[in-house]
Amino acid sequence: MTGAVLLIGLAIECYTILRIGRLLTLHVFLGMLLLGPVVLKAGSVLYRFVRYYTGSAPYRRKGPPALLLRVIGPIILLLTACVFGSGIMLAVTGPGYGPPGGWLEVHRISFIAWAFFIVIHVLAYVPRVPRLLAAEARGGGSLLGLLGGRGTRLALLIASLLAGLVIALLTVHLAGKWESFGNY
Ligand code: HEM
Repeated sequence: MTGAVLLIGLAIECYTILRIGRLLTLHVFLGMLLLGPVVLKAGSVLYRFVRYYTGSAPYRRKGPPALLLRVIGPIILLLTACVFGSGIMLAVTGPGYGPPGGWLEVHRISFIAWAFFIVIHVLAYVPRVPRLLAAEARGGGSLLGLLGGRGTRLALLIASLLAGLVIALLTVHLAGKWESFGNY
């Protein structure tokens, strides 16, 4: 469910990049809003990682992700932190700050690397999304039934979106710092 929310949210976020001059406020608002689900997704994947390596029986039975996806997982986590972290720095500092080249350079370069790995990740996982969402809606298929906690999952997702919404509402005015920054 969190993956599906991120898929739609990040697709819109990527669209705003194409019209960043006009859609900057939406870019900043949505980016800040997605912080909630992104943290939840990172938390859930790290939870699975810990349960698997500490030998929890259901997680062992399910097994780890396929090798390639297992290798790129930590890279995606790191690059996502770079894209969102530099985005936050851009909003907080305004134009012209940060390491040589500025935070905008960090944001752009980490985005390009992130996009490369996220395409592999999405292509591998997106075919499973309809089946998993349908199983969740039915009250859990064999795998989800095994993991249980459907109410908890939904509550966590809603809480993450509400937390993101609060952050977005409190910070969207920071986009104003970039309004006169125009090479568009
Ligand atoms: C907390 C979240 C985020 C904030 C606050 C944020 C903020 C910003 C700001 C202020 C700019 C500069 C706009 C300008 O040049 O006038 C920018 C550019 C950019 N952002 Fe973000 N961003 C966030 C998340 C993201 C995410 C999640 C992505 C990609 C998935 C992304 C991709 C980009 C790219 C590629 C540019 C460069 C666009 C260009 O110069 O052509 N940002 N962002």
